[in-house]
Amino acid sequence: MTTMTIDPVCSDPIRINPIRWCDDALELLDQRVLPERQELLRITSADDAAKAISDMVVRGAPAIRIAAAYGVVLAAQGRTGPAWHDQLKEAIDHLGASRPTAVNLFWALSRMSTVIDEYRHEPRPPVAALLEMARTIHTRDKTDNLTLGRLGSELIAREGQCSVMTHCNTGALATGGHGTALGVIRSAWAKGLITRVHVNETRPWLQGARLTAWELQQEGIPAVLAVDSAASLLMASGEIGWLIVGADRIAANGDVANKIGTYALAVQARHHGVKVMVVAPVSTFDLSLESGATIPIETRDARELTHQGERAVAPKGIEVFNPVFDVTPATLIDAIVCEHGVIETPERGSIARLLA
Ligand code: MRU
Repeated sequence: MTTMTIDPVCSDPIRINPIRWCDDALELLDQRVLPERQELLRITSADDAAKAISDMVVRGAPAIRIAAAYGVVLAAQGRTGPAWHDQLKEAIDHLGASRPTAVNLFWALSRMSTVIDEYRHEPRPPVAALLEMARTIHTRDKTDNLTLGRLGSELIAREGQCSVMTHCNTGALATGGHGTALGVIRSAWAKGLITRVHVNETRPWLQGARLTAWELQQEGIPAVLAVDSAASLLMASGEIGWLIVGADRIAANGDVANKIGTYALAVQARHHGVKVMVVAPVSTFDLSLESGATIPIETRDARELTHQGERAVAPKGIEVFNPVFDVTPATLIDAIVCEHGVIETPERGSIARLLA
């Protein structure tokens, strides 16, 4: 992996593309160092692509799937010999083990796997066909997000102009562009439907403070950053019309796994009469799971809680619980927006009908 610093004078941050395929390599905007620095990591192997996903160089369910798809292309490049098919399947397994909760990752790997299987009798891997599939996943993500933006902003228009609250980062950085929940916010802002955006800092990794606040600031969308625990106070003010969030996996009954804290926010929203909108591409649905109870929840390093940078903020040896996602029951969700349409008051039947 090599690191390149982007010259902030030459680059327009709004147009910064967090995932690029350039000269046979994958380039990722390193989200671990934003907003302080804009650095690109140049990745030339599938192993490094898997490491970049697990280390959160790239994060957010749709972005993870795009990076993993390009990771398969990296695994295929330069490979020859009769074992190429098995070697690529191994690379897919390795990429699939990088993060467990976002089902979009497995969706993309399954598409890449289908291409590999089509060419299994060829003497070498189908690099061009794999690259075409990865590019399609990438570009389609952005166009789908524009649809999500339109559909979600129509819902906001129906209820009237308001402030909104969002959690984590679901913007251009987390996707192929525009964003899912943040894409709805962008689209609604452009239509004059949003007065301001309340951004939760999103402990412990601070996706809200570091990434969402940065994205909104680049575009001059009024944003206010607050600690996660200010949410009830803000909702009680009556100013917030919608809580708008993304998703990492949605079960057949509409339960939604998303960034830790989403469940608490949805409970608070229901109490205060704030509507809850979940915005996610169709690849986020996992109809093989009856409910959210069996969604695998990733836990991450204790250090995310015990340290702030190099400084210890908890006693050495303390036991730590650091789940990075939780599951919001469908009953707390007013609408799920996907590129096929809007599912209001989601439940098994309405989800099945829209996805059929
Ligand atoms: O741990 P992260 O930063 O990958 O978590 C991201 C989220 O929870 C997002 O809300 C979700 O992936 C949707 S991103 C469009």
